[in-house]
Amino acid sequence: MKAIILAGGTGSRLYPLTQVASKQLQAVFDKPMIYYPLTVLMASGVSQLCLISTPDDLPRYQRLLGDGRQWGVSIEYREQSKPEGIAQALLIAADFVGLDSVVLMLGDNIFSGGDDFPRAISSFEGGAAIFAYHVKDPKRYGVVEFDGSGKAISIEEKPCHPKSSYAVPGVYIYDNDVLDIARKIKPSARGELEITDVNLEYLRRGKLQVRRLSRGFAWLDAGTSTALHEASAYIEAIERRQGVKIGCPEESALVRGFLGIEDFEVLIGKMPTCEYSDYLRSVADEWHRLNGEK
Ligand code: TTP
Repeated sequence: MKAIILAGGTGSRLYPLTQVASKQLQAVFDKPMIYYPLTVLMASGVSQLCLISTPDDLPRYQRLLGDGRQWGVSIEYREQSKPEGIAQALLIAADFVGLDSVVLMLGDNIFSGGDDFPRAISSFEGGAAIFAYHVKDPKRYGVVEFDGSGKAISIEEKPCHPKSSYAVPGVYIYDNDVLDIARKIKPSARGELEITDVNLEYLRRGKLQVRRLSRGFAWLDAGTSTALHEASAYIEAIERRQGVKIGCPEESALVRGFLGIEDFEVLIGKMPTCEYSDYLRSVADEWHRLNGEK
């Protein structure tokens, strides 16, 4: 399984913050927003990643994330010159996907809790798997309608009159047929290649699985200044209460075995003294305690 992280767009609702750096580079409490989706993917065992962003922002991501080797993964980069739709990411990264399955993830989606994504990715057998999350105001999202047996029967993009309260978060798992499907869809009235059209094609073929995320799961929006602030406050509250960090790629690299403990400690050694490196040092100490070393 390969992964595409889409981190372009205009971020107009975060003006003026997005005058100098894209939405997905903004801080969500103690780390850049992009760390959160990246960590979800690494924690799910995905090690071949491709990040797509605007020509202006791509160098900033390359500076922040490099080629991924420091975390034992590989990160490639591709440009989206204009925000012409989420599904366009599949066309831009088609050569990266090759003959594999792929998980497409939006760079501004922040999740906390549950192991729904690692389970869905490791048990994926073909077709498409997307998720549904109960929200108060579904109008801004793709909205999925279920029948009495819990089967998905329709998906509508940003409907004026939503048929349910279940929005589709920005994590989509596809088999390789998605490349052909994405090539065939046409831009919508707003001029975008819609990911909902890709999902509808899988629904039409009877190959779309929609998994409902549980109540304890948090899907946070960070698209406006207020939502960004609330997301930061949420992450801070959970991290402070639990003493563990959310969205820490170094930790996931160690846990998933992408990095050995020696390389993990070399990585910490290169960081300045700060709360982040203090935390990683505590992760290393715990690793040694559990493994009976040092
Ligand atoms: P949106 O939040 O819909 O758009 P935006 O990020 O440009 O923000 P705003 O509405 O404030 O102008 O996009 C959802 C995500 O998808 C976000 O992570 C940006 C990304 N995206 C792209 O990278 N390319 C695209 O062509 C589109 C439509 C979205």
